[in-house]
Amino acid sequence: FAEQNADLKALIRTIPDFPKPGIQFRDITTLLLDPQGWATAIERMVAAVSGPVDLVAGIEARGFLFAAALAAPLKAGVLLIRKDGKLPGATIAEDYALEYGTDRIAIHADAFAPGARVLLVDDLIATGGTARAAVRLLHKAGAIVTQAQFLVDLPELGGADALRSDGIEASALIH
Ligand code: PRP
Ligand code: HPA
Repeated sequence: FAEQNADLKALIRTIPDFPKPGIQFRDITTLLLDPQGWATAIERMVAAVSGPVDLVAGIEARGFLFAAALAAPLKAGVLLIRKDGKLPGATIAEDYALEYGTDRIAIHADAFAPGARVLLVDDLIATGGTARAAVRLLHKAGAIVTQAQFLVDLPELGGADALRSDGIEASALIH
């Protein structure tokens, strides 16, 4: 990868053996703490958005930060994709596989009308299991989803390519 965002990449640290031995955890909290880095990351993600967006959907928890920050300049609303059991109203949910077992994400069933144009964002895509489930959930609720943006893509895990095979234009600032 020819890295175009080396300045931002330098603000992310790698913590070995978290959450398990052998995993190299890419920790974005150091970028979030950097005023210039955070502002630059959001500016570049906003600049990469193509076409009008009604809602920016963020995946709990770190994805919420990106959804909120992108939605304001895009003049879009913020859609919270939450882990199951957190939303008070009637929900639509989607299950996805984890290494051991499954997890479930949900949105409010009345969050948007069919045909809403939704941009999916998260801090990081690894295997893509979470983002692909989010796209299935948004489609089930009638959204038009064409793009997904991430701060970090771990390309060797294939998540962004899997999203592309689902017909989503997936991009990230850092690889
Ligand atoms: C992380 C990350 C993505 C997901 C990526 O979230 O923020 O949502 O994992 O992994 P995948 O591409 O293999 O699905 P996590 O579940 O750690 O939640 P958090 O944001 O609440 O820490
Ligand atoms: N960093 C942050 N979140 C993650 C990672 C990582 O390396 N892998 C899967 N989710």
